[in-house]
Amino acid sequence: MPAITALDKLQTILAASESFLQKMHELGAEPHQRKTFQRLFSPGEAAEMVGRDRTTLARAESEIGMAAPARNPGNNRRVGYTLEQVQAFRTHFGTLPWRDPATDAPLVLACQNFKGGVGKSTTCVNLAHYLALKGYRVLVVDTDSQATTTSMFGYVPDAEITADDTILPYLASEQPSLAYAVRKTYFPGIDLIPACLALYEAEIAIVMRVGAQASREQRIAFFSELRYGIETVAQNYDLILIDSPPALGMISINVLLAADALVVPSAARMFDFSSTVQFFRMVHAYIGQLDPTKTYRWISVLTSLFDRRYESQKQFFEVMRACFGDSVFQRVFFHSSAVINAAAQFTTPYEQPKPDRAVLKMMDNVFEEIELAVLREWPSKAAELTQRAIA
Ligand SMILES: Nc1ncnc2c1ncn2[C@@H]1O[C@H](COP(=O)(O)OP(=O)(O)OP(=O)(O)O)[C@@H](O)[C@H]1O
Ligand SMILES: [Mg+2]
Repeated sequence: MPAITALDKLQTILAASESFLQKMHELGAEPHQRKTFQRLFSPGEAAEMVGRDRTTLARAESEIGMAAPARNPGNNRRVGYTLEQVQAFRTHFGTLPWRDPATDAPLVLACQNFKGGVGKSTTCVNLAHYLALKGYRVLVVDTDSQATTTSMFGYVPDAEITADDTILPYLASEQPSLAYAVRKTYFPGIDLIPACLALYEAEIAIVMRVGAQASREQRIAFFSELRYGIETVAQNYDLILIDSPPALGMISINVLLAADALVVPSAARMFDFSSTVQFFRMVHAYIGQLDPTKTYRWISVLTSLFDRRYESQKQFFEVMRACFGDSVFQRVFFHSSAVINAAAQFTTPYEQPKPDRAVLKMMDNVFEEIELAVLREWPSKAAELTQRAIA
């Protein structure tokens, strides 16, 4: 076979695949302008979410000035409330779960592991959806140039997002705060700082700049840029979730220093386990060199892609528990076709108009453990935690 010019061949592959991606977005997941949150909550579900019974909610509708929810013409029952309406009820009844700004700091959780394909983005997006449904205010920061998370929010990253829309201008000291990069999403309660391929180039730019930095303090400051940036917008949120690239680089180190807690997805398989151990080794080395005084509220492995059909995975989960001790979440994120099928449409099971209840239950179970770990960090939630422990 005659040799082909690499550039020509790549050009052909790119032209076809990029137009495919664009079409997928246009078909399956509509572009963000049209992507909407369509799930409605039945009066029973809404009652549980708000913490008041359905009659109380129905009575409150007119008091709040809420437009009457659509009714089923067959039986005249309410079809369901929107998430905004659920939030309006929570506001009215004082059952929003927001942190108390006087005592509770916003918490930055990074989904991080240098191993690829272990469910970092899936965890980040699904956890964001879980938290927003609970009523928390969430900021998602995509720091991965692959921009999976950004796509899940309905953007075609390299067509619709430019370097100026990402964390880059802040990292390059061109902006005094990260506020310029925060955008509302179609999902009520979630804001996003998007990513695109340009973040990859940032790695090199940052290395060049750090080379010129002399003292240790300057180096720490340098790798803390993202942390400073998040601090400029954090007060508007309860939680900030960072999705990270599967690589050790400048941005990953910035994420490590920006996080208050690390959620480390890892499959219960040998190679993933050894990569995760390697991840901890590298984190230890880098933090040791950069800022030995750095603190975390917790570092926890989240067992992802767990397939209970394999005895080896069950055994491996036990190995992980034995090795990581209290640094592994007790609940596992099961491998689920619903997660894959939803992702193919750039969505999650949480936003399906008719969600698979068993899958939601499985995910609620996993994310509740993370939510409880967060609540333990907020002094104003102590009473609620005791109540939940009793219940
Ligand atoms: N619980 C799950 N059940 C089934 N499929 C899953 C689950 N979690 C993740 N996946 C699938 O596994 C693949 C990798 O997941 P994901 O993109 O979240 O990993 P990642 O760690 O962010 O990858 P990368 O390192 O490339 O950023 C995706 O196709 C995703 O849909
Ligand atoms: Mg990812």
